Amino acid sequence: MGSAQIAILRITLAKMARVFSGIQPSGDLHLGNLLGALVNWVNHQEEHESVYCIVDLHALTLPKDAEELRSNTLELAQLLMAVGLDPDRCTLFVQSHVPEHSQLAWLMECTVSYGELSRMTAFKDKSDRSDFISAGLFTYPALQAADILLYDTDLVPVGDDQRQHIEITRDIAERFNHRFGETFVVPEHVIPPAGARVMDLQHPDRKMSKSQHSVNGTINVLESPDSVRKKIKRAVTDSDGEVRFDFESKAGVSNLLSILGAATNTSPEKVADSFERYGDLKTAAADAVVELLTPIQERFADLQADPAETRRLLQIGADKAREVASRTLMRAQQNCGLLEG
Ligand code: TRP
Repeated sequence: MGSAQIAILRITLAKMARVFSGIQPSGDLHLGNLLGALVNWVNHQEEHESVYCIVDLHALTLPKDAEELRSNTLELAQLLMAVGLDPDRCTLFVQSHVPEHSQLAWLMECTVSYGELSRMTAFKDKSDRSDFISAGLFTYPALQAADILLYDTDLVPVGDDQRQHIEITRDIAERFNHRFGETFVVPEHVIPPAGARVMDLQHPDRKMSKSQHSVNGTINVLESPDSVRKKIKRAVTDSDGEVRFDFESKAGVSNLLSILGAATNTSPEKVADSFERYGDLKTAAADAVVELLTPIQERFADLQADPAETRRLLQIGADKAREVASRTLMRAQQNCGLLEG
């Protein structure tokens, strides 16, 4: 085979691969979400058949205010569209709009063991921090497995913190297939490129995260240009004065290089070559982030002005998702011995 044919074969294979990912409507999207995950989601739309889900049912596993959940869900849909998820090129929908997720989750719960769920570190972390530990928090991975398996997913692009959840999804799929015959595609975990690791600006040894409540260390996607510039200007660096990409010994500077690199599609090492002073690096990083966020904020404002249109697009997404999900659910129900209704 010539190189052109190999390229075509690769594209054909890549086109057939289906990508699925989910995101919780927890309010506020930050720069870490954007550069770490969402940029990849947007790119996957070109190369793969992609399905993206706002997991509102997962959000219920911890106590939530009802109105807040509703508005966070709508707002997240608008943010995702503003970032570049295009309802014409991917399937974007809200989990609770596709009832097959809850239905398959029960079959998943009956396929996974108490012991396996007890070993999930995300459960241990969250239950340590919560007064009320719902049964749903414990069975969270079974619902996540249902999300993924419903779409015959090949690839799941999520961060390293989701490794255990993808592993357990694979185990559930294999066990179900073994017990009841070929039913599910066993998915692969794809970890986004490391360059997009975005750390807290004030505590560059930990990831930028909403749950840490580090106001000055986190940049929101909807943050004003002024505030972006202030936060980056105040970002923690070090005292040796050398611009070099080295997360081990120079976390703060490396984080700025990583942010500037991701925002301008350049490697952080290459970015480092262009700067001699921290001040210049900070100015350039702030400019790049403002330039990245401004068009997103403008598109978000347009979408927010017309919520009925967002709902219409989400309905189309849910209809598209259901076509695939209902077939998979039916196959699973039949294979495990439920009598057809
Ligand atoms: N657990 C994921 C998180 O907290 C969210 C999620 C739910 C998800 N279902 C999914 C991610 C399916 C990937 C695939 O980020």
